[in-house]
Amino acid sequence: MKANLQDIRRPIEAELSQYSSLFDEVLTHSESFMNQALGYVRGRKGKMMRPILVLLLAKEQGEVREATLRSAVTLELLHTSSLVHDDVVDESDERRGQASVHKIYDNKIAVLLGDYMLAKTLHQAALTGSVKIVEHVSNLGATLSEGEIFQLANVESDFISEKAYYSIIRGKTAALFAACGALSALSMGADEEFYSRAKKYGEIVGICFQIRDDIFDYYDDAQIGKPRGNDMQEGKLTLPAIYAINSTKNEHARALAMKVKAHEATADEIAELIEFTKANGGIEYAEAQMDKFRAEALELIADFQNAEVKQALTDYIDFVIGRDY
Ligand code: IPE
Ligand code: IPE
Ligand code: MG
Ligand code: MG
Repeated sequence: MKANLQDIRRPIEAELSQYSSLFDEVLTHSESFMNQALGYVRGRKGKMMRPILVLLLAKEQGEVREATLRSAVTLELLHTSSLVHDDVVDESDERRGQASVHKIYDNKIAVLLGDYMLAKTLHQAALTGSVKIVEHVSNLGATLSEGEIFQLANVESDFISEKAYYSIIRGKTAALFAACGALSALSMGADEEFYSRAKKYGEIVGICFQIRDDIFDYYDDAQIGKPRGNDMQEGKLTLPAIYAINSTKNEHARALAMKVKAHEATADEIAELIEFTKANGGIEYAEAQMDKFRAEALELIADFQNAEVKQALTDYIDFVIGRDY
């Protein structure tokens, strides 16, 4: 089930190119410093997972509309601005294989540039002409920040639970993918039934996306263009470790985990907990969870009419689950 992005993009190649022109237009500025800083962000595109999802789901409904292209720009802009801020918060020096914005400039510029892009996000949402879309995007901005804040503040620091983990990743990642489905449907004037399916498909994809992203952190050999091994240093415990600790009921591992959460773990202790997680089936467990989500996602698109789109969406979830970047 190895899927590649090129195949996934094929049914929407033309629409993606229209999308890209619009996206670049928004990140262009008449003033030279602004244009240089925005150009730095514009220059490294990332995988464009969110616009691809918006466009594929829309295509099932028919010819993609201008409001759909604007929706795709909106959500990729929101994603990109959140990454600029996330790298400040996480003190992470590399993004998309190049230095993070705050490394090239500084934290002040990165915060303000992220704000600028966020404002442009809402402007693009407004240009869809749909109040429902604007409302959805505004709520989404709040949800993403909550997810990041809850994680940072370790709001549920007393226990190491899958419930708390899922609640965080639903907020910080899956809500954005769910919005890809929602905005796709809204921009195409789809019915309630399609809206719910598209949104749910997006949410499931988003959950898997973050589980896979979190698994990256347990290894240091992948080429993903951003640093690994950062999560535990940042006090984050993710699904593989949570499972390994809870299923073994190992008190030493739990004590290490509490140190991680309190930002008191040394590099050696973090390495020990990572090894413990791997030795106790944490990675396999997380992968098995993704397989369950995959089946649920495929169920949602089972009666899609456009065969090319359906295949691409099948490949899309497989890519998300199996990707190595
Ligand atoms: C990174 O998202 C942030 C997470 C939700 C893990 P992507 O991996 O989609 O980032 P880019 O846009 O391709 O760089
Ligand atoms: C994802 O969080 C970024 C956002 C959802 C804003 P992470 O901190 O886990 O992602 P990476 O590893 O920096 O991409
Ligand atoms: Mg980060
Ligand atoms: Mg991460």
